[in-house]
Formats: sequence, C-alpha cells, structure tokens
Amino acid sequence: MTTNARSANQEWAERARAVIPGGVNSPVRAHRSVGGTPLAIVSAQGATVTDVEGREYVDLVASWGPALLGHAHPEVVAAVQEAAARGLSFGASTPAETELAEAVIARLTVDSPEGRAPGIERLRLVSTGTEATMTAIRLARAATGRDLVVKFAGHYHGHSDGLLAEAGSGLATFALPGSAGVPDAIAAQTLVLPYNDLEALEQVFAAHPDRIAAVITEAAGANAGVLAPLPGFNGRLALEVRKHGALLILDEVLTGFRVGPAGWWGLEAAGGVIPGAVGSTGWTPDLITFGKVIGGGMPLAALGGPAAIMDLLAPLGPVYQAGTLSGNPLAVAAGLATLRLATPEVYAHVDAAAASLADAVSDALTAAGVAHVIPRAGSLFSVAFREGAIVDYDDARDQEAWRYPPFFHAMRDAGVALPPSAFEAWFLTAAHDDAVLDRIRAALPAAARAAATAAPS
Ligand SMILES: Cc1ncc(COP(=O)(O)O)c(C=O)c1O
Repeated sequence: MTTNARSANQEWAERARAVIPGGVNSPVRAHRSVGGTPLAIVSAQGATVTDVEGREYVDLVASWGPALLGHAHPEVVAAVQEAAARGLSFGASTPAETELAEAVIARLTVDSPEGRAPGIERLRLVSTGTEATMTAIRLARAATGRDLVVKFAGHYHGHSDGLLAEAGSGLATFALPGSAGVPDAIAAQTLVLPYNDLEALEQVFAAHPDRIAAVITEAAGANAGVLAPLPGFNGRLALEVRKHGALLILDEVLTGFRVGPAGWWGLEAAGGVIPGAVGSTGWTPDLITFGKVIGGGMPLAALGGPAAIMDLLAPLGPVYQAGTLSGNPLAVAAGLATLRLATPEVYAHVDAAAASLADAVSDALTAAGVAHVIPRAGSLFSVAFREGAIVDYDDARDQEAWRYPPFFHAMRDAGVALPPSAFEAWFLTAAHDDAVLDRIRAALPAAARAAATAAPS
C-alpha cells in the first residue's frame, strides 16, 4: 500500500458522492463541520460501531438517540425477526400497534405532587419525527382556526417547510426561509422567538392577537447543543399559551423515552430533579410528539394528545393524515420491545453514565486549560467551548466551535466516535458500562490538548 492509497472509508465516501447527493442521506452525516472522511459503518453492537475497515469505535451518537438500550439489543432484534417472519407490512391494523399506543399512554400517566397526571388519551403512529410535528401543527391549526405558529430559535422540529424557519430574526419579525425552496408565504406563517424568553412570548401574542395557533417547543432543546429550559419555563409557557387560546406542542422526538420513562415532560410533571432544569409541576402540553426511542431504531414516530384534539384526525375528523407504512409491524415490534426493556434501572444507568462522562470531559478540558461549559438536560449533554451559561441560541453559537474538529478527530483516532458537530448532544446507552466509559476517559486528555492547541480556521 502506498502512502497515497485511499482507505476503504474514503473509497466508499467517493462512491456514495457519485450517486447520493453529498454522499449522505441526511446532511450532518457528511462531517461538513468537522472535516475528514465519514466512517462507512457496517455493523453495531452494544456501545460500539464497526466501520468497513473492520475498526471498532465506542459510539456516542447512538443513531442520534434511538439506541437507548445499545445497538442490536438481542431481545429487540429477536422481536423484529419474529415480526418479519409474519410479514413485512399489511396496510391494515395490527394488535401490536394498539399495544404500543396503550404502552405509551400508560407511560405518560405519571404521579405528580398534585396526583395522577394524565398525559395523552390518543396516539397516532407515523414514520418520522418530521411527520409527527407537521401533523401536530396541522391539528393545532384545525383546532384553533388560526394560522400562525411560534417556534424557538435553535429548536429543530424536522424538515417540513414551515418548521425550517431559522433563528436570527428579531422578536415578532416574520422569519426568512431557513432553506431554499420554502416559499416566503409559508415561512411567513412561522414566528421565531429567542428560547427561554417569556417576555418575547408575551409580546408576540400581543402583536398577533387571536392569530397564533400553536407554540412548538423542544421539551428540552438538544439540537443546538443542549439548550435546557430554564427552571419553570415549560410550565409558564403552557400557562401563557393556554391564556391566549393557542395550543402548546411539546416536541419530545428526541427527549421522549430517552431522558426518563415518560420523557422530559414526565420528569417535570413528576417534579423530578433534572440537571439543567428543575421541574415545574402540574402542567400538560396540548399535543406531544415522539420519535427516535419509540421506534427502537426503526422508522417510527407518533403524536399524542387528548381525544378532543386527536379525534379531529381522519377518519373521525376533517384533518387528513395518512401513511402507507404508518404503524409498520417491524417498527412497532422494535418499539414495543424497546419500551418494555427501558426500565427505571436503564434510565438510572444512563443518567449516571452521562453525569460521570460529562465530569470527565470537563476535567480533561480544565486540565488542558480550555474554556468550556457542559450544558446538560437530564442524561443529554454537549460540550461548548465558551464560558457562562447557555440560555438561548445566540449563546450556543457564541463559542469557539473551531476547537471541536481537532477534539473530535483526536477522539476518533483513539477509537471513540463523537457526534460530528459541536452543536449536537452526546448520547449514552444502557450498554455504556464502566469498561466502555474507561475507554472514552482514556481518550480525553489528548483530545483536550488538541482542542487547546487548535487555531481558528
Ligand atoms: C426535537 C426533534 N423533533 C423532530 C425531529 C425530526 O425527526 P426525524 O428526523 O425522525 O424526521 C428531530 C430529529 O432530530 C428532533 O430532534
């Protein structure tokens, strides 16, 4: 092999670029913000992924969240195999999809200091988080007879036209399209506010009386790095939204069944102590969206809410929504098995592993003299190269993000696969045991030194 020989990862990346736009089927996989060649993964087991060159990496991406139990959990794989042997897709109802809806509704009924807190009464299964939030918005518009939607800067709700509106626009300014191809008329239906800013919220309701159908918020922001709600923010948001006759859509696509048995809302409704945000109690959103963990690694997502709103969906009501593969039997089997195995012990383990790893990252960066903060929301955390709390998207972007690529590559050279962007959460799983955490800890000092000697590009 000459020094110019391309690695198998490089060869596959090249082949992919020739036939797939940018070589990827979802943009962040292209490693644009860290550079270098993305790994071509051929298998994953527990806490590790293996690339086409046969090298194994400790994985901190976990399929961007779904792999709560670790990759290829034997009981989840067996459930999918059994379902597959019975048929891949029927285009008709199945007992298992009802069981999954029952399981989710049971999980969302939590004990709060005020008593049993009902979360949702109905659940509709879809295939992606994008569909779940898109349908929730349509439902909110139908239920209120209003058009405008409010979202927060730095929150991601999938790639439907109206939800790609970007940050940066001032209070109550209509957002510019966040993507080419989104008509101005559609972007103009979305108002973008700074996160954690209740004053801005009050002002937007005052500026658009009786026109706002819904406010959509990530239960805890985790798509601009971790951006936790301030103590009591979600509860106050729910009150304010209701006061103005709009609906609150709580997007738990990322947090749902990942940060706790009933997602982030379950932690807050139960008054749990959450690193990064102390729970406010006694509030419910109008609609909740789920994705990722609910499908255990298969394409499955959902939206839920009270019967009075959810029954507006076809065939009962006038709001149309459908899907050839909605409630797909393999995806439902993976989701049911995952939820069955996602016990309180699993969450306790993932919480402890995340806390321990976040401390180790911070210790290594401190030892290397690198200014940083580790924002946390339950078991989710990210690394930001700045000092001071991160409260909104402007804070999240105000960091020396150029320190991340050398940090990322030093970790990868040591066999640890981090999310390929400073603006992503790190995902732990039930399979990240002490031995795995030790492998990550061992890689941290050199990576921290690489971050310390990085220079702005
Ligand atoms: C909070 C949130 N909502 C919605 C989505 C979109 O989900 P999907 O990628 O399944 O369409 C994501 C995806 O990362 C997400 O994190």
